[in-house]
Amino acid sequence: MADTIDAYSIQSWLESCPQSYLMNTEHGHGADEREPDFLLENEVLREETIKATVQLVVGERCALSASSGLINSAPEESSRRFLATQTLDEARHVEIFTQRLYDLGVAKKDLESTIQRYANPNLVKFAEILLEKVDRKDFVAGVVGQNIVLEGMAFSVFELMHAMNEPVNPKFAHTLTGTIADERRHVGFGENRIGALIRQHPEKTAEIERMQKEMSYYMLATFADAFRNNRTIDALEEAGIERAHADYQGVDIGVMQPEEMEDVLADTVLKEFKIRLERIGIEYQTPTRP
Ligand SMILES: [Fe+2]
Ligand SMILES: [Fe+2]
Repeated sequence: MADTIDAYSIQSWLESCPQSYLMNTEHGHGADEREPDFLLENEVLREETIKATVQLVVGERCALSASSGLINSAPEESSRRFLATQTLDEARHVEIFTQRLYDLGVAKKDLESTIQRYANPNLVKFAEILLEKVDRKDFVAGVVGQNIVLEGMAFSVFELMHAMNEPVNPKFAHTLTGTIADERRHVGFGENRIGALIRQHPEKTAEIERMQKEMSYYMLATFADAFRNNRTIDALEEAGIERAHADYQGVDIGVMQPEEMEDVLADTVLKEFKIRLERIGIEYQTPTRP
């Protein structure tokens, strides 16, 4: 009976994900949907899109390592089962964003070299801080780093990308709709299961707060690199393509300059961190602005 099942059980995952919003999708979108021609035919836009998609693959590979790595350090069996579902979600995210690289024209043999070439070093550092906690079997810090910090960031980035893509690229917007729903589930687990553990281990608080501050710094540095060196708007202008208008956090992204987008995204994510961390009893630490 649906109303009696645990929200983080495999049964619940089956009903809410594969048997629901993933039904009839292929790599997260409709089987007949394609990347738009204006994107594939413009070298600058295509390269910028490949670059952005590489960051998604890097983030999701980290989430896959973290969620699978945390399974054996989870204190209770129900968390192990949830993390098993999350592991499959993250593996699927790696796969669908990798598939997008192929759709954008990256040859299979060039996958790893393309990722190496474009992976943002600040994002790699962000991932390393989290994976170090996972490697040490530090469950509490690992879940905060993954399910609050990494996925809080992913959630907001996906929402911004969704707003930007919905009017012009339904294929990618559909892919994002599914991943946003997945991330919402993962973030919910972090909040609901970790608060009690933090109360049992108050000695861990300082270290977790330090981790959040450090990861947040590298996140902001990643955003800075991504927005400040972005050629997308200029390329659209040159090609005479009108920017898509859509609302993100009450602002029209079709008129914003990259620096404004960076600010809105950074503020949105940091505000979310603050709310979620407070709920689990961690004091939010303001990161240094890169
Ligand atoms: Fe993910
Ligand atoms: Fe996730």
